Amino acid sequence: MKHLLSMEDARDEVDEILDLAGKFKRGEIPGEPLAKKSLAMIFEKASTRTRVSFEVGMYHLGGNALYLSRDDLQLGRGEIIEDTARAMSRYVTGVMIRAIEHDDVLKFSFNSSVPVINGLTNKEHPCQAFADLLTIYESKGSFDVTLSYIGDGNNVCNSLLFASAFVGMDMNVVCPPEYKPDFEIVKKAEEYAEKTGSKIKITDNVNEGLKGADVIYTDVWISMGDEAEASKRISDLKDYQVNEDALKLADPDVIVMHCLPAIRGQEITEGVINSDHTVIWDQAENRLHAQKAILYKLLKD
Ligand code: CP
Ligand code: NVA
Repeated sequence: MKHLLSMEDARDEVDEILDLAGKFKRGEIPGEPLAKKSLAMIFEKASTRTRVSFEVGMYHLGGNALYLSRDDLQLGRGEIIEDTARAMSRYVTGVMIRAIEHDDVLKFSFNSSVPVINGLTNKEHPCQAFADLLTIYESKGSFDVTLSYIGDGNNVCNSLLFASAFVGMDMNVVCPPEYKPDFEIVKKAEEYAEKTGSKIKITDNVNEGLKGADVIYTDVWISMGDEAEASKRISDLKDYQVNEDALKLADPDVIVMHCLPAIRGQEITEGVINSDHTVIWDQAENRLHAQKAILYKLLKD
């Protein structure tokens, strides 16, 4: 794997990256394996977890990270992404980019001489999916479980489809027909799932999709960039909330996950976030361990 642009890029390295993430979490990788290495972090959108976990992760590994918002760069004044990539990759060891358009991350990677990591686009969020797999494995002890993702079939859902297929985990996506995940990704994930023996189901029926779930996962109904459709989305998705009734449909030991930020009262209730079922804060912490594993894998000599 040269770049991590899509979760699909990591298909042959998922186990290795999860193993590394566990080792980083337990403090089993000593020293500063990325000493004197630099990561440029380009943000075209807001971030709390991705920014902090990458920046702290690089520090723990002995390197440094540069936070670059679009407006700090000449990108904001019209320099093309290709030229930004050509120049920036002469200075740093790797680039993490959170972009509005997935195509811009692809263009960046085609013109970069160093590894590029997708820190979220409109299409995918692979770094999140690694933290999610680590969290599920820690909580459930295996991937022999059913993950029910409910709400908007967005970037987070798309990467989870690949992730589930790669580790052989069953995944239900429960959403209104208009909010289904990316058609091409579903098709590819189904092909991978056939090989690993996992089942992928897309349904608009909440009872069917949550029945017996071991993991319930949700994300915001209004992703960054969807703000103009806010009221329509709230109305279209209102029956797809993770609330106490939703939990009753699942396995009694269900865990609840959310990539955050959460909007209480929309996709999830305050009661569920504060319940014993939540692993959301472990999941947030795991972004740091997963990030370190990804950085180690891509940037170490
Ligand atoms: N989950 C996640 O990527 O959070 P941030 O948007 O805060 O980085
Ligand atoms: N789907 C959300 C995820 C935020 C981490 C968004 O794209 O805004």
